[in-house]
Amino acid sequence: MKQSDKRIHIFLTGFMGAGKSRIGKSLAEQYNYPFFDSDDLIEETASKAIKNIFEEDGEDQFRIIESKVLKKLCLSKDPAVISLGGGAIQNDENFKMVEKYGLSVYIASSPDAILNRVKHTSKRPLLNVPKGKNYETRLLARITELLNKRIPTYEKSDIIIYRDGLELEEIVEQIYIKIQQFRKDM
Ligand code: S3P
Repeated sequence: MKQSDKRIHIFLTGFMGAGKSRIGKSLAEQYNYPFFDSDDLIEETASKAIKNIFEEDGEDQFRIIESKVLKKLCLSKDPAVISLGGGAIQNDENFKMVEKYGLSVYIASSPDAILNRVKHTSKRPLLNVPKGKNYETRLLARITELLNKRIPTYEKSDIIIYRDGLELEEIVEQIYIKIQQFRKDM
């Protein structure tokens, strides 16, 4: 078996609020693959919401569960589309697992577009900026700071899609085409 034959899954990477889950579901339908959201599996494993894992057990514990869930997903025999939490591939070991068991697609989006998608939710502990005066400006600064730190790793993904200004169907179509191309060249 060639090493590349093991790369059966499609992993969606990218920052919080990039739309990985929505895009992933639609891409999975296109391929007729099952869809998994690693955050959902983390919540199932811990029997609590991500917000509560961070608050009660800390980020380190969250990252331990995240790596375990990722390993399990990687080892599943049937190809799947898997949406990863925004921090998952920042861990080198996780990144290597993703590289070994699938193709990675970075869903890239600008800080402003991300802001618009996350500003009304409070389920992401790392974007938990206190509400009040200049909330959006402070949240944008937080997003920009964290995104800039992470971009070098996101950009190591096999495929990059700049999603801003595109409709869901267009994003999925572009990913599909780029994956076909990528697999041909593998
Ligand atoms: C995180 C992203 C979240 C979730 C957790 C940590 C991160 O997932 O895993 O809050 O470190 O970027 P989404 O990217 O699906 O929001």
